[in-house]
Amino acid sequence: MGSSLLRDLFKKKGWDSQREGSEIKLKRVLGPFDLIALGVGAIFGAGIFATLGIAAAGDPLRPGAGPSLIVSFIISAIICGFTALCYAEFASAIPASGSAYAYSYAALGEIIAWIIGWNLIIEYAMGNVAVAISWSSYFRIFLSGFGIRIPDWLSIDTMTALTDPRLVESAPHLFGVPVAFNLLAGVIVAVVSVILVIGIKESAKANALMVIFKVAVIGLFTLLGIYYIRPENWTPFAPNGLAGIQAGAATIFFAYMGFDTISTVAEETKNPRRDLPIGMLGSLGICTVIYVLIALVFTGIVPYSGLLEGFQSHQAEPLTLALKYANAGRWGDIAAGIIALGALVAQTTALLAFQLGMPRILLSMSRDGLLPEIFTRVHPRYHTPHLSTIITGIAVGFAAMIMPLQEMIDLTNIGTLSIFVVVSLGIIVMRRTEPDMPRSFKTPFVPWVPAAGILGCLYLMAGISGITWLRFVGWLVLGLIVYFAYGYRKSVMRGSIDR
Ligand code: ALA
Repeated sequence: MGSSLLRDLFKKKGWDSQREGSEIKLKRVLGPFDLIALGVGAIFGAGIFATLGIAAAGDPLRPGAGPSLIVSFIISAIICGFTALCYAEFASAIPASGSAYAYSYAALGEIIAWIIGWNLIIEYAMGNVAVAISWSSYFRIFLSGFGIRIPDWLSIDTMTALTDPRLVESAPHLFGVPVAFNLLAGVIVAVVSVILVIGIKESAKANALMVIFKVAVIGLFTLLGIYYIRPENWTPFAPNGLAGIQAGAATIFFAYMGFDTISTVAEETKNPRRDLPIGMLGSLGICTVIYVLIALVFTGIVPYSGLLEGFQSHQAEPLTLALKYANAGRWGDIAAGIIALGALVAQTTALLAFQLGMPRILLSMSRDGLLPEIFTRVHPRYHTPHLSTIITGIAVGFAAMIMPLQEMIDLTNIGTLSIFVVVSLGIIVMRRTEPDMPRSFKTPFVPWVPAAGILGCLYLMAGISGITWLRFVGWLVLGLIVYFAYGYRKSVMRGSIDR
C-alpha cells in the first residue's frame, strides 16, 4: 500500500506526451527577437528599481553589500546563467507552456511537479504583486511631478497602513474600520490583464517598444551618473564582508528572475527548439551587462554612509535618489523625471511578461487535472487563455492592494530559487533516465553545470531571512493540502477521472 502510494505520487509524465501540447492550440507567432524582448521585458523590471537600494544599504533583516553589490550582481548572474542553461535544454526538448512544472513532471514525477507548479504561483503571481506595488510608488512620484497628489490611504498597502497609527487615524473609516489600500497597484494589474486577454502578438509588439525605451533610459542614467562617480566611494568595498555580499545577491536575485518566463510561450513560438535557448541566454546576458554598469555607477555616486542614511527606508526609488544625492542640478532633476518614467515602463513590461506566463502554467496544470478545468478555456476569437488571465489578474491585483513590498520580494526569491534547484536537478536525472530524448540544445558539462546551479541557488537561499523561510514552509504545507484535497484525486495521468 505504502509503496504503491509512493509510486503514484512520483509517477512521471512522458516527455513525448508533452511535446506538442494537446488539442488546445495557441497561435505560433513569436520569433527569436520577440523572445529576447520578452526576456529583457520580464527580467529588467522592478528588481533593479526597487531592490538596488536595500541590497546595498541593508535593513533589519539583512546586512548591506555596499559597493560590493557589484560582486553580488555578478554572483547572482552566474548562478542564473547555470540555471538558464538547464532551462534551455528542457525548453528545447519539451516546449510546453507549463515550463518548470512540465519539466519536473517528466523528470521527477507528479508530486514534485505539483510543488513546482505551486511555487510557480509564488514566482509569477507574488512576484507580480511586488512589481505592481513598486510600479504604483513610481507612478505616484510621476503624478506628483504634475501636482497631482494621491492621498496616503489610497497609495499604501493595507498591512503597512494598519501598523502606522498616523495613517490609521487619517484614513476614512467604514463602519469604524480604517480603509487604506494601494489603489494604483490594483489598477495597473487590471489594465495589463485586459491587454493580455486581447492577444499575445499585440502584447509582444507593445512589449518590444517598451523594452527599447527602458534600455535607453537606463543608458541615460549610466552616462549622466558616470560624471558624478567619486572612486573613493568604493571604499570600504565590502562593509559587511561575505555576509553582505551573500544577502545582497539573494535580494537582487529578484532583478534576474524572468529569463525563465520565456519557456511559458513555447507553444506560441515559431521554432521553439532553436529560439528558446537564444531568447533565454540572450536576454540574461544583456541584463547582466546593464545591471553591473548600474551597480558601478550607483555605488560610485552614493558612499556607504549615504546609503545607510537615505536608502534603508527609500527602497522603491534608489536611482532617482542617487541623482538627487549627486546634486546634479537642473539636468539631474530632468533625468530623475525621465528615469521615473523609465521605471514605470520597465515595470509594466515585467508585469506583462509574468501575467502572460501565469495563466499558461495554470493551463498546463489544469490540462493534467491537477487544477479545475476552468483554467484550460481558450477564448474563441482572441485565442488566449482568457479566464485564467482574468482570475490571475483579480488575485494579483487584490494582493497588490493589501500586501507590503519587501515581504513579497523575499518570498518570491525563495520560491523561485527552489524552482531553479529542481529544474537543474531535473537535467541530471533526465540525462540518466531519458538519454535518447531529442534535445536540440544540450546543457554543457552535465552534471557539473546543473550541480553548480543547484549549489548556487542553495547559497542564495541561505542568504534569505528566517521569517521568509517560515512563510515559505507555510506555503508548501498549504500546497500539499490542496494537492491531496484535489489534484491527487483528479489527476488525469493516473486515470482517476474520465475527462
Ligand atoms: N526580474 C523582474 C523584475 O525585476 C521580476 O521586476
